[in-house]
Amino acid sequence: MHKFEAFLLENLPKSTSIHPTYEAALQEMLIAGGKRFRPALLLGVVKALNPLMLDSARHAAYAIELLHTYSLIHDDLPAMDDSPLRRGKPTLHIVYDEVTAILVGDALNTYSFEVLSNAPFSDALKVKLVRELASNGGLNGMVLGQAIDCYFENQPLKVEEIKVLHTNKTAKLIAASMKMGALICGNEELADKLYEFGIKLGVLFQIQDDILDVTQSSEEAGKLTNNDEDKNSFVTILGLDEAMREANVLAEQLTEEMQSFDESLRSELSPILTKYINRHK
Ligand code: IPE
Ligand code: IPE
Ligand code: MG
Ligand code: MG
Ligand code: MG
Repeated sequence: MHKFEAFLLENLPKSTSIHPTYEAALQEMLIAGGKRFRPALLLGVVKALNPLMLDSARHAAYAIELLHTYSLIHDDLPAMDDSPLRRGKPTLHIVYDEVTAILVGDALNTYSFEVLSNAPFSDALKVKLVRELASNGGLNGMVLGQAIDCYFENQPLKVEEIKVLHTNKTAKLIAASMKMGALICGNEELADKLYEFGIKLGVLFQIQDDILDVTQSSEEAGKLTNNDEDKNSFVTILGLDEAMREANVLAEQLTEEMQSFDESLRSELSPILTKYINRHK
């Protein structure tokens, strides 16, 4: 992933204007880092299917990370989760102000599509990738999930409804990362299979994130923890033990499904998948 980090640093959003802090604010949360889970998934798929496509695939991996980073900046706003810490750094609305955090989020959201549109792919492939990122990250994906998440604070949902919430707010973008990797390599059939796998992986990822909210300190997590009491999660609805059990079941299913991947895909993805599938343990 060090090549991805170098690519990201070379392609940071830039702006020269009379605004004294806009450019620094645009870059701050991207530079702060994070696990880069979604880029790692996309690039892992590409490395397994067609390593010759890796250089161009970094543009798409970066586009996803830009959109994801925007979602985090908005997620932390006072009107949403009201969090002062992200990726080990004070959030943008703390360092600057709310206006800056809102506008930087807007800018990273649209910049992600600018990056995709400039990627070295055919126009037909670029349209497919734009569609995947928009439909999974937007009004019927991450944004819908965030709307449900915030609307139903302090109103307990059923477990099946929480799965729908997790699918939208978190799993669709993770599934899209895997699918986009396969689309870049022209493998439409595998793209659909990886999308289904990615949805399960993403639901698990959110259950784990909710577990870590109660088991990690803010310092360990690099973000405010113990902040989800009002939220619908497996932990708040079922309790920590049951949430752990559900996570274990999903982790087992995914580990088994991974065995059906062909050899190159399995060997590329298993280090990263094994690490994340088991991160709640
Ligand atoms: C946090 O995502 C928000 C969720 C969808 C759970 P990550 O846990 O991937 O955050 P970073 O990118 O590592 O900061
Ligand atoms: C956020 O879920 C998912 C997003 C779409 C950003 P959380 O609100 O649980 O994410 P964290 O815990 O703040 O990273
Ligand atoms: Mg949230
Ligand atoms: Mg949050
Ligand atoms: Mg969380």
